[in-house]
Amino acid sequence: MKALILSGGKGTRLRPLTYTGAKQLVPVANKPILWYGIEAIVAAGIKSIGIIISPETGTEVREITGSGERFGAEITYILQESPAGLAHAVKVARPFLGNDPFLMYLGDNLIEKDLTPFLSNFQAKNLDALILLRSVSNPRAFGVAEVDKNGKVLQLVEKPQVPPSNLALIGIYFFSSAIQKAIDSIKPSPRGELEITDAIAALIYQSKSVEAKKLDGWWLDTGKKDDLLEANRIILDTHLEEKIEGEVDSESQVIGRVKIGKGTKLVNCTIRGPVVIGNNCYIENCFIGPYTSIADKVTLEGGDFEHSVVLEGAKLIGIEQRIVDSVIGRRAQLTVASRLPKALRFMIGDDSQIELGGG
Ligand code: DAU
Repeated sequence: MKALILSGGKGTRLRPLTYTGAKQLVPVANKPILWYGIEAIVAAGIKSIGIIISPETGTEVREITGSGERFGAEITYILQESPAGLAHAVKVARPFLGNDPFLMYLGDNLIEKDLTPFLSNFQAKNLDALILLRSVSNPRAFGVAEVDKNGKVLQLVEKPQVPPSNLALIGIYFFSSAIQKAIDSIKPSPRGELEITDAIAALIYQSKSVEAKKLDGWWLDTGKKDDLLEANRIILDTHLEEKIEGEVDSESQVIGRVKIGKGTKLVNCTIRGPVVIGNNCYIENCFIGPYTSIADKVTLEGGDFEHSVVLEGAKLIGIEQRIVDSVIGRRAQLTVASRLPKALRFMIGDDSQIELGGG
């Protein structure tokens, strides 16, 4: 059994964070989203992992994630020249996959549940495909399945106008090598992609065994800012281990579950967990409230933060208003003007969203 993680694609939905970086590398609780997937796959006993990368972000994905040694896995990087669809990615991965069955995992998804029972089910029943589904309130945004009471998949459609059910494909699939032939039989969809949903529909048409399992527990498709904040909140709640390696001065107070990285200095701060702070940060005169993740090399001076994510190298100095529900991008700077006339001065990237407090 092998695994194929899809970490290519365009990454348009998390703009502006993903103009320069891969969306699968956006950190949740200071760890790239992609790594949670790798860890879940390894925990299910699969050690041979292929990762689909794009020409734009592949180098970064490869450099940050490495050979797989840190996960106890062997990672093979597979370049997909253009984001021509999920089924296209499987086609490109053929030399890696051979005739082995495999688990396919979309690299921007996060799930709570252990994958082992699903893998056992797929293997025990000798299925050609097992797909994981979850009820959603907006099925039109997903691939949607219709399933009979025994879990047999009857129909699959990608982003349907009129959804046959509210059961969305969550981006985790188990396949036998039969999927390869099915992929060869499909044509690009109206959006120009070779869709994996069409390939699975072809399996159903060929009377192959295609079943579905419903996922309980949370599933986060980290496509938008609020999803990212929610993923950050849940991971901090469930996975954060307390560890203080940085320097906390005697005027500072650290309450609850807090992780502070090496080389970080806290001066006169109150930190109320769950909070994670990375390495080599400088934080002075701040209150940092629950569900906040601060990446490496961040400078915060005089501020009040809660339920927010601050990415690497950002600098926020002297902001008197509370900052909540916010995502601050890498190397972003937010300071208060020291010169007159008192005014707001901006250099805001494309697609940024800024909400200034009233009053
Ligand atoms: O999130 C679940 C949904 O994911 C499913 O319900 C849909 O059936 C499935 O098609 C997919 O839809 P999205 O529109 O969300 O797919 P997206 O383009 O975001 O790509 C998903 C991941 O796969 C993402 O990590 C990028 C990667 N990818 C995507 C394409 C199109 C590739 O590596 N190569 C590609 O060609």
